[in-house]
Amino acid sequence: MSSEPRERWGSRAGFLLAAVGSAVGLGNMWRFSYLTAENGGAAFVVLYLAMTALVGLPVMLAEFTIGRGAGRSPVAALVHFGGGVWRPLGILFVASGALILSYYSVIAGWTLRYGLDALVSGFGSDAAGRFDAIAFGPGAAAWHLGFMALTIFVVGSGVRTGIERTSIVLMPALFLILVGLAIYAWTRPGSAAGYAYYLQTDFREILSFDVLKDAASQAFFSLSLGMGAMLTYASYLGREDNLPSESVVVAGSDFLVAFVAGLVVFPLIFALGLQQEVKDSTTGALFITLPHGFAEMGGVGRVVGFFFFAALVVGALTSAISLLEVVVATAIDELGWTRHKAVLVAGVAIALLGLPSSLDGNVLGAVDKLSGNVFLIFGALALAVFTGWFMPDPEGEASVGTHGVRWFFLWRSLLRFVVPAVLAVVLFYAVPDTWTALAALFR
Ligand code: TRP
Repeated sequence: MSSEPRERWGSRAGFLLAAVGSAVGLGNMWRFSYLTAENGGAAFVVLYLAMTALVGLPVMLAEFTIGRGAGRSPVAALVHFGGGVWRPLGILFVASGALILSYYSVIAGWTLRYGLDALVSGFGSDAAGRFDAIAFGPGAAAWHLGFMALTIFVVGSGVRTGIERTSIVLMPALFLILVGLAIYAWTRPGSAAGYAYYLQTDFREILSFDVLKDAASQAFFSLSLGMGAMLTYASYLGREDNLPSESVVVAGSDFLVAFVAGLVVFPLIFALGLQQEVKDSTTGALFITLPHGFAEMGGVGRVVGFFFFAALVVGALTSAISLLEVVVATAIDELGWTRHKAVLVAGVAIALLGLPSSLDGNVLGAVDKLSGNVFLIFGALALAVFTGWFMPDPEGEASVGTHGVRWFFLWRSLLRFVVPAVLAVVLFYAVPDTWTALAALFR
């Protein structure tokens, strides 16, 4: 056990903004928009919303409940409520966090680089060439290391002075920027076709397991679930918070930001006549198509582009700190390390782990699939089973700080039956796909 007393959030708003900061990130803008484009627009958005409410929300409340109840990082918290057999699940959580951060930071490095491009040189006319030139290689590795250094700095400053303060300042800024950009996009001639693409649902598209798999894994990734990030943040809460309503606020804000990001990306793309480009490439929606558009917009494009990538950097940073915090909190609780030592050792190790992803796109893709589609889904499945079937009195623990909640029965039933069933189907479809991506690396 560490000899330092456990840290606490300074305020309810601080906790909420930090949790929303964890949830809102590259997932809401980069991943959400390319998956929506790939899976036929609105049909995917509807399914994603359903997954957020039916499967994501119950798991988020489960993480909050376990984290606050135990007041410990994932491994110790699971052992606290379930005994030593659950220790491996906690260790899987920490490993997933490290793995996700290792490549997440590479993409975050691109956003830093593009933000700087907007300031210094503007976006060049050959957007695809630019992306190919900077996405992977020694330059990308350097930006990845730079972004990790920033993350290490914030987490090293502590829960209240580092994570909470950063989130309180940056999250409202991110939201204002996105709303401003959405209004700007709305004023562009030709944007109407973008709304049509984004908001008109063809329900036949929904009925495919492949889309279901993408919608579920996107919900978990975007809500930061399945690896103990929300659990760890909740472990710094007092017993007076109302967890069910906090989880609704966090999940709702996360969906709202993704939705608004779509209101920026799709109208802009259609206004610029770039829709074909988006459908052709996965990462393209953000890192090729939009800079292409910004370049055509001239001086205004540099301003708009700067704000756009600034929002992405903010989202990425507040998410990355939650990923690192899981590993750091575990090292503090399990090994008795000081925060500074834990942050340095874990941060440097994860930065090194990310180097292969920064040099080779196939590695990044495979690590993304392995952690996002398999580890997170398996982690969330196991956590739902744990809370639904094994944890003693989860309703009692979750209701501390509330005035009695009538839908707890529904919550427990979702955790017991619906969440495991949906996630088992998702795993069934995700494992072969991930296996192919991994096997391709070793050929
Ligand atoms: N939710 C973040 C995003 O949308 C990424 C993230 C942060 C995350 N912490 C996580 C994903 C924990 C999975 C698990 O960009």
